[in-house]
Amino acid sequence: MIYRATLLLAGGFALFALLVGLLFGAAWGWCALAVAYGAIVVWHTRHLARLQRWLADPVPGAVPEGEGIWDEVLAALHRLERGMSKRERGLADALVRMRRAAQALPDGVVILDGANRIEWCNRTAEAQLQLDGRADLGQNIANLVREPQFVEHLGAGGGSPARINRGHGTVLSLQLIPFGQAQKLLLVRDVTQAERVDAMRRDFVANVSHELRTPLTVLVGFLETLRNLKLDPQRQHDYLGMMQEQAARMHRIIEDLLTLSALDSAPPATAEARIAVRPLIERLGADAEALSAGKHRIGISLESERDVLGIEAELASAFGNLVSNAIRYTPAGGAVTLSWREAPDGARFTVEDTGIGIEPEHLPRLTERFYRVDRSRSRETGGTGLGLAIAKRALARHDATLEIESQPGKGSRFSARFPARRLAPREPVT
Ligand SMILES: Nc1ncnc2c1ncn2[C@@H]1O[C@H](COP(=O)(O)OP(=O)(O)OP(=O)(O)O)[C@@H](O)[C@H]1O
Ligand SMILES: [Mg+2]
Repeated sequence: MIYRATLLLAGGFALFALLVGLLFGAAWGWCALAVAYGAIVVWHTRHLARLQRWLADPVPGAVPEGEGIWDEVLAALHRLERGMSKRERGLADALVRMRRAAQALPDGVVILDGANRIEWCNRTAEAQLQLDGRADLGQNIANLVREPQFVEHLGAGGGSPARINRGHGTVLSLQLIPFGQAQKLLLVRDVTQAERVDAMRRDFVANVSHELRTPLTVLVGFLETLRNLKLDPQRQHDYLGMMQEQAARMHRIIEDLLTLSALDSAPPATAEARIAVRPLIERLGADAEALSAGKHRIGISLESERDVLGIEAELASAFGNLVSNAIRYTPAGGAVTLSWREAPDGARFTVEDTGIGIEPEHLPRLTERFYRVDRSRSRETGGTGLGLAIAKRALARHDATLEIESQPGKGSRFSARFPARRLAPREPVT
């Protein structure tokens, strides 16, 4: 194409020069040929210079224009350049999208090069490892995260994740994943919560075993005595009574554990059924009288007629535990008061006693499973230490919170606060 055009042009000029030579003599003919070919060289040189200028600084979309054969060549270059800019924009967009996705990950991500230098990290990783996404680029990560477990993991180039402690009880799990040629992806996961749950489960199993072992040891001891010694019928009867007591205690613990597990796995308490609070509290008052056997003054103060929405059996068990605690931890002659009253943001059921009270350091742990202030005393009164855990769970299922105030030696006040949305609409006045 270019050859043909060039040949045509050169041939045309040669013909023209020949014509000039025939008309005006050979000298003029040569002259004309030289001028014409000179013009071709100048024209090409100008286009070449323009092209070179653009190549030195290839501004996108500003490929120079040309005439004749140069027009076609430069137009092809223009098309090429446009295609490339488009691809480049597409790649840049894809990169931005990938980075956004990596930023949005709930886990920390750090990209390391072959020499463990930071190439990029997301904001989660910055916060978890106290990195600076700009200033620390190019730094060796081993200089910034110096925990020995991690350095070892880094040295091994992967394997099982490294667990490191990073201030305020935070536990991080770091895992190196090689990719590409020599690059590595470092995934950082906050496992604080998971570790806590794990520890809780271990504690729980240990506690349950311990709580069951005590009565079981007593039971086995009595059984051995009964088998090996010849006892008079009265003694035998006494021993059997004590064995029954221990068996009953084990039974209570298991019942309470099953209640707790049922509360934990049940779907949230629906707000469909209406629980009549007045008769519930009156029943609890009667139970308290029975439990106290006349040793306490028991008062009931019903200041509201509002009902609660939820599951009656759960609230009866939660309230019942607060009442039985008040009786059991209040010496004879004390007073226990049950009250139900409305507050600006809902309503509260309160059990107040004038009993032994609780030292402040025990208050935050009171609702933990098996937690008892005075183990021997609670055991004496038949407590399993699960009552408040059950009450708290049952209340939480009703969006209610348990508040505990207490003064050692003076008495305690346990309140279940229900939010307004858990109260049944007022009965229309008739
Ligand atoms: N009204 C109260 N006054 C003083 N101490 C209390 C009172 N209520 C609870 N406590 C303390 O809190 C601990 C935990 O109570 P919780 O009801 O969970 O267990 P419990 O009463 O020992 O056993 P359970 O209720 O399972 O039979 C009790 O052991 C007791 O030390
Ligand atoms: Mg109790």
